[in-house]
Amino acid sequence: MSNEKKLAGEAAIRFVEDGAIVGVGTGSTVAYFIDALADLRERIRGAVSSSEQSTAQLKKHGIEVLDLNSTGQLTLYVDGADECDPHKRLIKGGGAALTREKIIAEASEKFVCIIDSSKQVDVLGKFPLPIEVIPMARSLIGREIARRGGHPVWRDGVVTDNGNWIIDVHGWQITDPVALEQDLNQLPGIVSVGLFARRPADIVLVGDRQI
Ligand code: A5P
Repeated sequence: MSNEKKLAGEAAIRFVEDGAIVGVGTGSTVAYFIDALADLRERIRGAVSSSEQSTAQLKKHGIEVLDLNSTGQLTLYVDGADECDPHKRLIKGGGAALTREKIIAEASEKFVCIIDSSKQVDVLGKFPLPIEVIPMARSLIGREIARRGGHPVWRDGVVTDNGNWIIDVHGWQITDPVALEQDLNQLPGIVSVGLFARRPADIVLVGDRQI
């Protein structure tokens, strides 16, 4: 599968336009994209990064990392996913970077998602759904999830780049991801839900194959 990740990361380069500020996600697939982006460093204006991890890799390659508040709307966001359904709706957040990823996806005209074929599913939910919560709301949100038939598991020891905690929800077959995302977004204490359904990917690359 790591060969498919590499192919996908390298294939996404064709969407990078001269002079662009590129939104960059997080994870092992994106790491291949960043390595490939290094060859274009003279032709782009820089990148907006979704994590400390990606920031370090971008800077190592001499790519300038910019603040989203100073860039305006981005033309392109490239990121991986943990699951992808036939409508290009995603589960993300396995690497705990979901909130910044969601912000950059929202701020971008085109979201190119890069995955290997193991991430393709008919119905989202086999991969436990990550939810970023304010620490004091952990138990409250756990109870709300249980009321909705999910099994919440605290990712003990993990603190997000924003200083929050992650709950992974097991046991949900997510047949209506837009409705679930909307419902969970109402709960005080949830910072973001790792469902990218309201704003799905625009283009998905499975290896170098576009779907
Ligand atoms: C990071 O929080 C995630 O959303 C990643 O995009 C996702 O976990 C995919 O990671 P890999 O590319 O390492 O499989």
